[in-house]
Amino acid sequence: MLKLIKPTYKYRKSFLKSLDELEKGPAGIFDGDLARTNFKAYLTRVQNYENGINLAKGIVPASTFWLIDNDEFIGGVSFRHKLNKNLKEYGGHIGYSIRPSKRKKGYGTKMLALTLKRVKRFGLKKVMISCDHDNIASQKIIKGNGGILQEIVKTKLNPHNKPTMKWQIDL
Ligand SMILES: CC(C)(COP(=O)(O)OP(=O)(O)OC[C@H]1O[C@@H](n2cnc3c(N)ncnc32)[C@H](O)[C@@H]1OP(=O)(O)O)[C@@H](O)C(=O)NCCC(=O)NCCS
Repeated sequence: MLKLIKPTYKYRKSFLKSLDELEKGPAGIFDGDLARTNFKAYLTRVQNYENGINLAKGIVPASTFWLIDNDEFIGGVSFRHKLNKNLKEYGGHIGYSIRPSKRKKGYGTKMLALTLKRVKRFGLKKVMISCDHDNIASQKIIKGNGGILQEIVKTKLNPHNKPTMKWQIDL
C-alpha cells in the first residue's frame, strides 16, 4: 500500500539502501551522511527542521515526507513551510526525489499528489515549485498535478546553471 509518512526508524534499512543508489546516480534531496552514521540523530534533525529548531541563517522550517510502498522506501519530499527571497527565486515550496531503482513507474506523480493533499493542512492556498527547463519528468509530474507555468528565469541560485521553470499549483 502506498503511503506518505514522516521519516521513521522502521524503514531505516530501505532508506539507507536508497542512499547507496543515489550515490551512483544524480544526487537527490537527501543529505545521507548523518543518516548513515547516526540514524536517530538524523531523525532528530528532521524533526528540528520541521519545528524550526537550530536552523542555519536563511533556512526556513521544512517538513520531510517519505513515500512508502509495500514496506519499502520509494522516495522523499521536502516541503518548505514558507518562501524566503531565495526560495521564491529557486526551489519553491516542494522538492522531491524518487530512488533511482523506482523511477518511471508513476511514483513521482503520486508522491506529489499525496504531498499536495498533506500540505493543505498548513493553510496555504497555492504552492510554488521550480525545476530545470530540461527536467521533463519533473515537468510532467507538476503538470499532472495541476501545475501552471508562471515563468522561466535565469538565476545564479540554480546549481546546474540552467533556465529555471517556476510553476504554481493551486491547492
Ligand atoms: C524527477 C523524478 C522525481 C521523476 O520521478 P518518477 O517516479 O520517475 O516520475 P513518474 O514515473 O511519475 O513519471 C512522470 C512522467 O515523466 C516521465 N519520465 C520519467 N522519467 C523520465 C526521464 N528521465 N525522461 C523523460 N521522461 C521521464 C514518465 O514517463 C512520466 O510520463 P507520463 O506522465 O507521460 O507517463 C525522478 O526522476 C528523480 O527523483 N529525479 C532526481 C531528482 C529530481 O529531478 N527532482 C525534481 C527536482 S524539481
